[in-house]
Amino acid sequence: MVERQISTKIVFCTLQELPEAEKMLVEKAMEISRKAYAPYSRFKVGAACLLANGQVVAANNQENAAYPSGTCAERCALFFANANYPSVPVEAIAIAAHHGDAFTLDPITPCGNCRQVLVETERRFGVPMKVLMYGERDIAVVDAAADLLPLSFGSETSEPLF
Ligand code: THU
Repeated sequence: MVERQISTKIVFCTLQELPEAEKMLVEKAMEISRKAYAPYSRFKVGAACLLANGQVVAANNQENAAYPSGTCAERCALFFANANYPSVPVEAIAIAAHHGDAFTLDPITPCGNCRQVLVETERRFGVPMKVLMYGERDIAVVDAAADLLPLSFGSETSEPLF
């Protein structure tokens, strides 16, 4: 029998401590969250992706009266990026969310479905996707989407776990 541990490096920092490009990405996520269509949950989320060609694409959550028809901000942004720039890696994604006027105090973390999509985009291009999760108190940063979804499912069934 073998026991193995999986650990995740998470950096907690302030907006001012981020490099300029990442600070701008977080600010873009915050800005676009204000335009979210979230009349049911009133939880407005924004996501901004930095592509390897320098382009930034951003989107927000889009809800629907038929609840499951709605889509999270991260998937809206990533699917738009992949639809329009299918050969350009996504190097980073920033996420921010607010209820009413106040952004969440703790970092907003992507849901399980979005993590699956983040990981597949990362694998598809073979380039780590930094994830910046905004909170008023601090921002949590992981170096790769896979860090948020250990032992994730992929199409390569024979991929080694370690
Ligand atoms: N939501 C996102 O857009 N991203 C997340 O990471 C978490 C949840 C949305 C889905 C739904 O519109 C609302 O937030 C409440 O769950």
